[in-house]
Amino acid sequence: MTAAEHLYTIQLLGMGEDVRILDQVHLPHALEFRDLKTFEEAAEAIAVMRVRGAPLIGATAASGMALAARVDASDEALASAAQVLRDTRPTAVNLGWALDRSMKCMLEVPVEDRVKVAYQEAASVIREDAMANQAIGQHGLNLVKQLSEVKEGKPVNILTHCNAGWLATTHLGTATAPIYLAHREGIPVHVWVDETRPRSQGAALTAWELHREGVPCSVIADNAGGLLIQRGEVDMVITGADRVAANGDVCNKIGTYLKALAAAAAEVPFCVAVPTSTIDADMPGGDDIPIEERDDQEVLTATGLAEDGSVQTVRTAAEGVPGCNPAFDITPAELVTVLVTECGLIKPGHAGDLVSSE
Ligand code: MRU
Repeated sequence: MTAAEHLYTIQLLGMGEDVRILDQVHLPHALEFRDLKTFEEAAEAIAVMRVRGAPLIGATAASGMALAARVDASDEALASAAQVLRDTRPTAVNLGWALDRSMKCMLEVPVEDRVKVAYQEAASVIREDAMANQAIGQHGLNLVKQLSEVKEGKPVNILTHCNAGWLATTHLGTATAPIYLAHREGIPVHVWVDETRPRSQGAALTAWELHREGVPCSVIADNAGGLLIQRGEVDMVITGADRVAANGDVCNKIGTYLKALAAAAAEVPFCVAVPTSTIDADMPGGDDIPIEERDDQEVLTATGLAEDGSVQTVRTAAEGVPGCNPAFDITPAELVTVLVTECGLIKPGHAGDLVSSE
């Protein structure tokens, strides 16, 4: 059993029971779990990023609805809980997708059956994401294998941004799934991990999970990718996404677009690994995807482990200087080489064909 398989990002502790999450705000300095008892606690976990990453946000939202149903499964109470969960974060489409799924199946049955149905649906969301991770891994593995043949035994250098690893999903991750499968098959890979300021999901989460599994990796400053791509030190870029529009425009963590531009200029493949639950058939193009604006303090400060072992947040900008903190950006479809989905490798322009519009 590998390191990644030992830990669950989210677990239903049984029918009608609490929901256990891996609390990511303490990583990489402490590995802690937290039991969610109410939908309000599930909403808080999403809002403050104890859980994050589009697929895991969806899984937590579905689980939050199960927690809501065990208190009050009336139409009104469920609608109100769904709204609280929906308002936590605006960009990842998996949130609304999972809430709509949960609501639909609960409203189809009598009130007394809703707790069971909600737990079953949350379990399905978790299980289906795990299966999608595995299939994405297999399809992406073929790309890594092709690059490895050209490299004749030298490591395939893969650049990734933010965390689209197992921490962001329920199994192997999206962008990391092909990497883990390649590593397990003995294909030499090395991952350039973008630090991903301001929340440092790359340094704190992706590097932690890759290192834990023994995958060779190096954390780089967000601005280093352009040079490495230009120098031929990147064979492939692979990221996840928070939402893919029907035309294939990709919304992902701020900074993704710049990597796509650099990759296009150097003719390096830019791949986006997504489950179809991240494709929004109702969003024609990227321009209308809501971009989360976060507290500017995240940009004006840095958080890390001090020498005395405590986790501290320190100010990096001068006192009183304002910041600006858009959390996601849009990479136009024409910069994306391929979408790696559980259904196979898809040209981004065909994204909308994979999912039905409501
Ligand atoms: O703000 P976050 O940490 O939730 O952002 C996560 C990302 O941007 C991920 O790359 C994306 O959700 C894909 S997760 C498989």
